[in-house]
Amino acid sequence: MEKIIIKLQKRSYPIIIADKLFNDFSPCWPLNIGDKVVLITNDRVAPIYLNILRNLLTRSGIVTDQLILPDGEQNKSLITLNTIFTKLLKKNYDRSTILIALGGGVIGDITGFAAATYQRGIRFIQVPTTLLAQVDASIGGKTGINHILGKNMIGAFHQPIAVAINLDVLHTLSMKEFSSGLAEIIKYAIALDSSFFSWLESHLDDLLILHSPSLMYCIRRCCELKASIITIDERDQGIRSVLNLGHTYGHAIESYLGYSQWSHGESIAAGIMMAVNTALRLNQFNCSDAKRIKLLLTRAGLPVRGPKEMTSKNYLEYMKRDKKSISGQLNLVLPISIGNVKTVFNVNHELVSLSIEDTNSS
Ligand SMILES: NC(=O)c1ccc[n+]([C@@H]2O[C@H](COP(=O)([O-])OP(=O)(O)OC[C@H]3O[C@@H](n4cnc5c(N)ncnc54)[C@H](O)[C@@H]3O)[C@@H](O)[C@H]2O)c1
Ligand SMILES: [Zn+2]
Repeated sequence: MEKIIIKLQKRSYPIIIADKLFNDFSPCWPLNIGDKVVLITNDRVAPIYLNILRNLLTRSGIVTDQLILPDGEQNKSLITLNTIFTKLLKKNYDRSTILIALGGGVIGDITGFAAATYQRGIRFIQVPTTLLAQVDASIGGKTGINHILGKNMIGAFHQPIAVAINLDVLHTLSMKEFSSGLAEIIKYAIALDSSFFSWLESHLDDLLILHSPSLMYCIRRCCELKASIITIDERDQGIRSVLNLGHTYGHAIESYLGYSQWSHGESIAAGIMMAVNTALRLNQFNCSDAKRIKLLLTRAGLPVRGPKEMTSKNYLEYMKRDKKSISGQLNLVLPISIGNVKTVFNVNHELVSLSIEDTNSS
C-alpha cells in the first residue's frame, strides 16, 4: 500500500493506492461508526463494484445509501446534478453526510460538485475506478459539469477528504478506457518529468498487461507529480495550467462531438500532438522529441490526429471560449522539450490553424 498526502493545510488529505482495497475496512477510509454516506455511481460500475463496497462499509458500521446515475460524459450535466440534489433533499440528508464517488472522472467530477454545493458544501471521498480518474481526475479538487457550449464550464474547487485507489478495478476496464488514462499519464511525463517519459517508453508493454508493480509505480508517480503542482497552485492561477497540455485542443474535440464518441483521453492525445505541432511551428521544439511522443501515444493505442470531420475553424471556435483564453486571445500550454512546457500567450490564430492541419495530415 502506498500513501501520498496532499498538503493543503486544513484541506489536506491522503491518497491511498493499494490492491484489494474493497476487501478490508482499513484505516485508509476516513470514516467512523455511525457516519452516513451516500455512494454515487453509474449503471456501468454499479453491477460490478457497488455491492462489494457498500457491504464493506455497512459491515464496518457505516450507514450507507446509494444513487445510480446513467453512464456517460453527456450526463455530466445540470440535469444529473439535480437528480443528486433531489435524492439528498428527499431523504433529508444534512451537512454531516459524506458522498462517495465510485466511478471514473465523470462520477468524480459531478459528485464533487454536488458535494461542493449541497447545503453550501459537504464532505466527499473519491474512489476512482478508471485509470484516468486514478492518476488525474480524482486528485486536486476540480469539480464540475459540462454545458452544451463548453466543457467543464460550471464548477467549483472542492477537495475530497480522501482518495482511495484500488488497482484491482482496472481489470474490468475496456482497452479504450485504459488507453484514455495513458493519455493523461503521457501528458504528465511530457509536462513535468523526462525520466518518467523514458520509464514509460520502456514499461508501456507492462502497463498494457496490467503488471501490478508497474501500475503501482506509474500511478504513484502521477499522483506525486499532480500533488507537487496543486500544493503550490490549488486554484489554477499559475503553474497548475501546465497540466492542461493538449487540453485546449482536446476540449474543442469533445465539445464539437457533443461529449460522445471520443473519450477524454483520446481527445487529449490528439490535442497533445496539436500542441507539439504548434510548438514545432514556433521553433520551440525539436522533431526527434515530436517523433518520440507520437510513437508513445500510438503504442498506447491513442489517436495522433483529430476527428476527420473537424476543420481547423471548428477548433478555433471552441478554443477561443476556453477558460485559459482571454477576450479571444489563445493562451496555450506548449512543450519546450520532453519534461518542460510553458504557456505561450496570444498565439497567432493562423499558426494554430496550420498546426492543427499539420497534425491531421501527418
Ligand atoms: N477534475 C479533474 O481534475 C479532471 C481531470 C481529468 C479529467 N477530468 C474529467 O474526467 C472525465 C473523464 O473521466 P474518465 O475517463 O474516467 O471517464 P468516465 O467516468 O466516463 O469513465 C469511462 C467509462 O468507463 C466506465 N468505467 C469506470 N470504471 C470502470 C471499471 N472499473 N470497469 C469497467 N468500466 C468502468 C465508466 O462507466 C465509463 O463508461 C471527463 O469528464 C474529464 O473532464 C477531470
Ligand atoms: Zn484531462
